[in-house]
Parts: sequence; C-alpha cells; structure tokens
Amino acid sequence: MQPYHEFLDEVLIPEDVLQKRIAELGAEISKDYQGQDLHLICILKGGVMFLTDLMRRISVPHTIDFMAISSYGVGSRRSSGQIRLNMDLHEDIQGRNVILVEDIIDSGNTLSSVFGLLRTRNPASLKVCTLLDKVERREVEVDVDYVGFEIANKYVFGYGLDMDQYYRKLPFIGVVDLENYIPPE
Ligand code: IMP
Ligand code: MG
Repeated sequence: MQPYHEFLDEVLIPEDVLQKRIAELGAEISKDYQGQDLHLICILKGGVMFLTDLMRRISVPHTIDFMAISSYGVGSRRSSGQIRLNMDLHEDIQGRNVILVEDIIDSGNTLSSVFGLLRTRNPASLKVCTLLDKVERREVEVDVDYVGFEIANKYVFGYGLDMDQYYRKLPFIGVVDLENYIPPE
C-alpha cells in the first residue's frame, strides 16, 4: 500500500480542528433535541468515523442505525442521481426524530435520493448533518441543517473517506494529489 504522504497534497483539516468542530455540532444537536427522542442514521461507510465521534458529543439519549448505498456514477469519483440500497436500516423510523449523518455532500445527488427514500417512511422529523460540504459542486438543492466545514472543490480523503477503500483510518482530512496517487492492484 502506498504511504499516504506520497499523494497528500495538504492536510486540509487537522485532527484537533475536526474534533473541536464535532464537539460544537454535538452541543448544538444536544440543545436542539433536549427532551426529545433522537435517532441517528449513518450512511456507510464514509460517515462512520464522524458518527462515532459525534455521538460521544451528544448529551441527549439517542439510538443509531446504519444503511449502505452505492451510487451509479460516470467514473468512480462522480455520483449520479441513481442509488442502490445495499443494506437497509434495521429499525423502522416511523414517528422518530431522525438525523442523517453524512461524511460529505458533493453534487447532492446521494443525499437527495436517500432523503427522498427516508421521507416515504414517515419519520416525525428528518434533518441532515454533514461533516463536509462542497457547496460549489451542488447540482441538486438539498437542505442541510448542520455543517461541519464548507470546503473547496478538491478531492479529499481520511477520517472515514477512502481512496479505493483504504486510508479511512486517518484522523485528519487531507487533499489528494491525484497525479501522485497509485491505486492498489
Ligand atoms: P454526491 O452524491 O455527489 O453529493 O456525492 C456524495 C458522495 O460522494 C459522498 O458520500 C462520498 O462517498 C463521495 N465523495 C464526494 N466527494 C468526495 C471526496 O472528495 N472524497 C471522497 N469521497 C467523496
Ligand atoms: Mg458517502
């Protein structure tokens, strides 16, 4: 496996900055859902690091669930409006206050499809919390309630986000230098 520093263009968000912002998001969510039922839904796999750190910062009682999707795209680094549900939720969300926890919103296609699907299941409320938002890449309008960081149009990895499934464990968000990246065999 290629050492990440060979294709790391820059550390965009260092670990301490990430954790500080996640603590703020957790506090904000805790305030908003005081005295209410809360259910967090994580979209696998990219959102998993964010979910586990975020839930440690949420002081109100809450439950979690996971769903896995893949999107049909043009090339591997683009997504389209079409999603395939690879693993559905394990629990019913009817009547629950749901927050969808995402790693990154790019075109907005993925989020908009997942949001549409969950809406049909009649949650009491449905909000979105994303760690990263590439606002300038947006193709579909989506309402995002909690945003960690707005970032520029650069391909990023680490902290849950992968390069061909690897490097998710890195504690920071880095920018990829695609010219120096060698995909695994
Ligand atoms: P969208 O459907 O275009 O909004 O794309 C969202 C999904 O694309 C995310 O959940 C990620 O899986 C992936 N994605 C978009 N940009 C990046 C990136 O810079 N690094 C890694 N994954 C990304
Ligand atoms: Mg994702």
